[in-house]
Formats: sequence, structure tokens, C-alpha cells
Amino acid sequence: MKNVIAELEKRREQARLGGGQNRVDAQHERGKLTARERIEAFLDEGSFEEFDMYVQHKCTDFGMEKVKMPGDGVVTGWGTVNGRIVYIFAKDFTVLGGSLSWTHAQKIIKIQDMALKSRAPIIGLFDAGGARIQEGVDALGGYGEVFQRNVMSSGVIPQISLIMGPCAGGDVYSPAMTDFIFMVRDRSYMFVTGPEVVKTVTNEEVTSEQLGGASVHTTKSSIADGAYDDDIEALSQMRRLIDFLPANNFSDPPLLDNFDPWDREEPSLDTLVPNNPNKPYDMKELILKLVDEGDFFEIQESFARNIITGFGRMEGRTIGIVANQPMVLAGVLDSDCSRKAARFVRFCDAFEIPVVTLVDVPGFLPGTDQEYGGLIKHGAKLLFAYAEATVPKVTVITRKAYGGAYDVMGSKHLRGDVNYAWPSAQIAVMGAKGAVEIIFRKDLDDPDKIAAHTKDYEDRFLSPFVAAERGFIDEVIMPFRTRLRVSRALRMLRNKRLENPWKKHDNIPL
Ligand code: HXC
Repeated sequence: MKNVIAELEKRREQARLGGGQNRVDAQHERGKLTARERIEAFLDEGSFEEFDMYVQHKCTDFGMEKVKMPGDGVVTGWGTVNGRIVYIFAKDFTVLGGSLSWTHAQKIIKIQDMALKSRAPIIGLFDAGGARIQEGVDALGGYGEVFQRNVMSSGVIPQISLIMGPCAGGDVYSPAMTDFIFMVRDRSYMFVTGPEVVKTVTNEEVTSEQLGGASVHTTKSSIADGAYDDDIEALSQMRRLIDFLPANNFSDPPLLDNFDPWDREEPSLDTLVPNNPNKPYDMKELILKLVDEGDFFEIQESFARNIITGFGRMEGRTIGIVANQPMVLAGVLDSDCSRKAARFVRFCDAFEIPVVTLVDVPGFLPGTDQEYGGLIKHGAKLLFAYAEATVPKVTVITRKAYGGAYDVMGSKHLRGDVNYAWPSAQIAVMGAKGAVEIIFRKDLDDPDKIAAHTKDYEDRFLSPFVAAERGFIDEVIMPFRTRLRVSRALRMLRNKRLENPWKKHDNIPL
């Protein structure tokens, strides 16, 4: 038995070395951890159980029968994050560049199936060169099977992708179908076709970083939800994200110990909104003062910054926050921010996370750029997402709620459960200047008349009370008591049950 155990240890040792010490050293020289080091850093200490570490590919083409490396380019298994089970796979770049073969795909599929069966989150760490070229259609088939499982798991268990090196070709589409993609700055990139193919087909010369680096995907394409400076920071932030999420669509997020009084008052919020309606203020200040201990995990921080999305907690329970940001484009709704927020609201709804909406929105962004780019359809995505959501929805209007954007941003009319307004709220079809210029066009030459009409309009419409008179606003609240009011509202809604009519699935405008 002693010999058998020694043999097992030897095999394990060999398997754990992946593509060999030289390749491990090369990985470290590039500032990257190996697949197993990443998993160790991500999971609770000692909790990782690896599966299939001895698996070898079966390819015999192009001399591959001589290239045998245990594990076949991906490390898979399960472990815990702060005691909660998660499944994980990490591409091992030291083994054939982490490229995907049929057997490599089977390892991922096994983990995907187990995660779905046991209703636990799955996280993929990517660092690979795409389809194993020598395997041809076997690799393509392998990808297809992974993609199918991504789709089946969508909305059932959280799926997270972290891109930590190359992610090219077939490797990009599995992350693209997961809930969140994060990247490591300066050493990860994602693209369907690389710089050489781009040069051949379009004659454009770009580097990998310019084509698909973290800055491109967090600011331009919106493919990535965030980026971090190195492997360790990225992995520890993923642990933080997991703490905000439920294990599946039927279980609650973890209830965290919370030392922040639910009725904490914030007198500084009474002066957050400036007197001048055209002056911006930072909506993040309200978010940080609203949530438990100022702990806010922002999603897509660098993209479409006119809307803020992210997770916080109230009374230790996860909430999703959607908030217009008056500091960027006056918080206007455009195509990009509508898509960003729609996807976030749908994630929250799928996983029973209540949505708190903070509104200061002057309307939709006018212009040919927006209209040609499909603003109608993209704006409709956000409208649709709010309207179909059945989770508790609490909305606070801090200042402007103008036009269609008033309806979209978690209004009573889209089944908002509790709709509050600060006394500074202005709920109207549009601002006073625009309104008066249209309805009193005949008086435009008479500044006195225009001034009088403007005052009338402001007195009548630019307050929360017309909406409150109609019950569209449930209560006008003191800014300093916002945390208390929202906490109470969420507590009141904790057992909310609402079902949409049965359908195969809806037809959200894509
Ligand atoms: C087989 C691969 C490989 C691949 C890398 N390797 N990619 N082997 N299939 N796709 C191997 C290399 O031969 C090398 O082996 C080792 O991995 C490390 O690769 P290097 O090139 O030395 O590393 P680096 O210089 O860092 O470059 C990394 C890279 C590059 C940018 C990812 O390897 C690359 O461009 N690979 C090919 C990418 C690609 O075109 N993939 C196919 C996409 S098509 P040795 O033994 O020398 O160390 C696709 C279609 C699927 O995925 C579509 C499904 C929907």
C-alpha cells in the first residue's frame, strides 16, 4: 500500500506541474499566476477538490499522440468561498496554451453539469489560445456543448468569467453568455479574431491590447463589467462579488452580519441636491450613504457612466441599485446606459434581488447619433426590464424625473412597489424652459409673459406634489431619512410574490 500511495502522490505531483517548470516560470515572468495558484487564491484555504487531473487528450493528428500532458489544459473542481460552495474551472496556459480539445471541453462540461444540478455558482478563469487547432471539429463540438450549458444555466445559477490572459476565438463566447465578465488590466485580452486576421481582412494594424484589452472592453464595447490590476486583486474582488449573490434563483443571498443601524440618519443628504437645477451632484454619495457600511460593488463602472449599477446591502441583504448620475451627461438616458441598466435589472430579477432605483433624469438623449443607433429599441430594453421584473422595486426620485424617462426609471406605472420622492423632486413632461417655449410659442417675443408662464409652470409642475396627489408617489420623504425609509420599504416587501402570465419566454427588444 505504501508504494501505491507513493505512486499516487507522484502522479498527482506530475499532474500539478501542468506543462512543466519552464512554462510555469514563463507564466510567472509575465506577472500571471498558474491555474492552480489562481484557484487556491480564489477559494477558501484548503477547500479545493480537483476533478479529472489525469485526463489526457485523444488526438492522434499532427503528431499529437506524442504530446501528452495530464489535465489537458484546464483545471476543474469545486471548493468554497466564505463557506459557500462554488464550482470552478481555470484554463491552464502552460498546457498547450490552455487550448480547448474535446476532452478539455468534457472536463468543463462535467463541472457545468454538476454546478447546475447542485444549484451553485460557477466561475471560469480564462487564459487560453482558443480551439486546439490540431483537433479540428472535435474542438468546435466541444465549444458548442459548453455554450449550450451556459445557456441552460443562465438565470438559474450565477455564472462569472474572469479573463486573466488571452481569450480568443471560441473561448470568448462562453464568457459572453455568463452573467459577468471581469478582466485583468494589461495582460488579458478578448477578441473573436486576433490582430493578424484583422490585418489580413481589413488592413487595420492593431495590437492585442488595442483590439481587445481591458480598457477597450470596459469603456467602449461594454463586454467586460470591470477590470483589476493583477490576478490577486481580481480574484479577491470575485470573492467579494460572490458574497453579494445567491447560490441560485431559488435561494437568498447570504445574510451578512451587519453593524450599520438600519435607521441611520444622514443630515448631509438634505443639502446634496443643489438649488440650481442645472448643477450636477454626485449620486454615488447618496448610494454610499444609503447602503450598509458604504459597501457598494459597482458593475460597469467605466461604461455609460450616466447610469450607475451595482450591488449593495440593506440590513445585511443584497440589493441591486440603479441610479442616474447627474455628473455625467446630466444623467440623461441614452442607448448605452439603457442597455447597461436593462441587463443589470434582469440579472437582479432572475436572482430575486430587490431593485432600488435612484432617479434624477432629464429625459432621453436627443440627436441623430442616438436615433440612428436605435435609441428607441435600447431605451425599450430598460423599460421592458423594469416592467417584467417581479422583485421588490423601491424608487426614490431625488430631483428630475422628466418625460418617458420618468416612466422607465422604476415608476409606479411599471409596478414600482414603493415610490418615494424627495421634496426637491420635479416630475413633469419636461423642464420649464422647454415646456414654455412649446406651449406659449406665441408669447416668445414678450419676455415678461414668458417669465410669468415659466413661474406658473415651475410652481405647478416642478415639484413632487402633482404626482403625489395622484398616488404615483407614495410619500415625499426627508432626504436625511432615506436609508430608514428604504430599509423599511424593503422589509415590508420581503415576502412579495408576483407572477407574470405563463409564456415560453418573452420577446425583449434585442
Ligand atoms: C493548439 C496552441 C493554441 C491552439 C496556443 N497553443 N494556442 N496549441 N491550439 N489554439 C500552444 C502553442 O503552440 C504553444 O505551444 C503554447 O500553446 C503557448 O503558445 P505561444 O504562442 O507560445 O504563446 P504566446 O506567444 O503567449 O501567444 C498566445 C496566443 C497564441 C496569442 C494565444 O498562442 C495564439 O495566437 N494562439 C492561436 C490562437 C488561435 O487562433 N486560436 C484558434 C481560434 S479559432 P508550445 O508547445 O510551443 O509551448 C477558434 C474557433 C472556435 O477558437 C470557434 C468556436 C465557436
